[in-house]
Amino acid sequence: MQDQPALLERFGRHFPTDALLFREGDLGREMYLIQSGRVQISRFIQGRTSVLADLGPGDFFGEMALLNHRPRSATAMAMEPTIALVLDADTFKAMITSNAEIALRLLEKLAHRLEMANTQIELLLVQDANHRVVYTLRKMAELTGKPQGAGILIPTSVPELAGRLGLDEDQVRTSILRLQEARLVRATANGFLIPEVGKLHEYLDFLDIRRRNEQE
Ligand code: CMP
Repeated sequence: MQDQPALLERFGRHFPTDALLFREGDLGREMYLIQSGRVQISRFIQGRTSVLADLGPGDFFGEMALLNHRPRSATAMAMEPTIALVLDADTFKAMITSNAEIALRLLEKLAHRLEMANTQIELLLVQDANHRVVYTLRKMAELTGKPQGAGILIPTSVPELAGRLGLDEDQVRTSILRLQEARLVRATANGFLIPEVGKLHEYLDFLDIRRRNEQE
């Protein structure tokens, strides 16, 4: 495999903020490896955009159409100026078959994606909006949170959470305000800080018990 500057020279492409890389349903002949920037993967479900993933440097996407020979399963949009290696099917397959390390990294990322998808399925079984927000923050803290100062930082926002959860922004805002009042969450410029993830677990248990009591 060629070195990084040669790969960038040959396969690198720049995408400005808001560039649509492809749309759900398009034919797909290339996959993308993000070098810098951010790309959002979303689907349009029942009249609203639902965010499946927010990807950054080291992440890849667009491989499914190449492997499944199916149209694009989701839409990809650059959320900030982004540089990605854009590989056609033959180059992608040659890369995997010639380099076990790359193949292993691909499997690790796919396993992580499956874990996130399983989380989404669990989430769909949770009906109440407040419950969904708390559940998602807890999962995000555990899976993608970054230790920072006095807690775990989840780099997300109210609009992103609303898109991810299929809720209105107002519903998410109300939930977050409630969590802030209970000092379970702190809003920061870079996302939400969770001082103690364990306390979110306790709060979820409390919501579960309350819901069960209401059902009885
Ligand atoms: P493809 O179907 O070619 O185009 C859309 C891409 O979005 C898909 O390949 C995957 O790379 C990516 N993708 C689809 N679903 C998810 C998901 N749940 N999480 C992260 N990425 C996804």
